[in-house]
Amino acid sequence: MSGAEIRDKYLQFMKNNGHAIIPSAALVPENDPTTLFTGSGMQPLVPYLLGETHPKGTRLTNSQKCFRAEDIEEVGDSSHTTFFEMLGNWSLGDYFKKEQIPWIAEFYLKEVGLDPKKFYVTAFIGDASAGVPKDTEAAELWQEILAKYGVSNSVAELGSAEEASKRGMKDGERIFYYDAAENWWSRAGTPDKMPVGEIGGGDSEMFYDFGTEHDTKFGEHCHPACDCGRFMEIGNNVFMEYIKTEKGFEKLPAQNVDFGGGLERIAAAANNDGDVYKTDLL
Ligand code: SER
Repeated sequence: MSGAEIRDKYLQFMKNNGHAIIPSAALVPENDPTTLFTGSGMQPLVPYLLGETHPKGTRLTNSQKCFRAEDIEEVGDSSHTTFFEMLGNWSLGDYFKKEQIPWIAEFYLKEVGLDPKKFYVTAFIGDASAGVPKDTEAAELWQEILAKYGVSNSVAELGSAEEASKRGMKDGERIFYYDAAENWWSRAGTPDKMPVGEIGGGDSEMFYDFGTEHDTKFGEHCHPACDCGRFMEIGNNVFMEYIKTEKGFEKLPAQNVDFGGGLERIAAAANNDGDVYKTDLL
């Protein structure tokens, strides 16, 4: 499947689920001094995630051109680029986890036709210091979906990537709880690194297993968030519901969804070859 076909299918799928298709914003952000370049689909939407009314409604989708330099040390491997396109959909206080997770599973597994046997997911283990609980709802939704696709769906608690590489994965495990370093998303990173006024939330990510041999340079055992190249992150559902204040974390006016999936990576998964440079997009 070509990159253009995946992009079209996604936008059409989200449109059929009530989303307005909005254009990709400029790569140099407008009226936003926080970063030099637009680094995610959510960036031009921050005012609306903070509660402003968007003229196109509460369900939005697009394919956003992004530039990220924070991964610069990893650029040159098979899956990191500075420039990429991010498929995105947003709920501005409209739907939440129980709609997003089944939709996105349908998009990856039915529309793109990825192999459910190679599909792995993660959920946020919670963060006591930020007052954010463990995301059992996301894990349970994934269990139901994976069961429908006839694949095993045991849940494992991994915690940090370091703990995960010591423990590894056991047979049948498909849903993995990680800490904030892996399963919390904000433009600034983990809750402790966020400046006052920044928004963020726990997330649930999707990974594709290319089945390559684990490289112990990256830790004793492999696990979905391992960087050895066996697994590649192909999408991220952020449950954007917190803002950092002087007093700590508070809830945003509404529970939002911020989904982003790298188009080049989804195309690589559809090719069943983890090298984004072998997709027609590059
Ligand atoms: N903002 C999240 C990301 O960039 C999901 O869209 O990964």
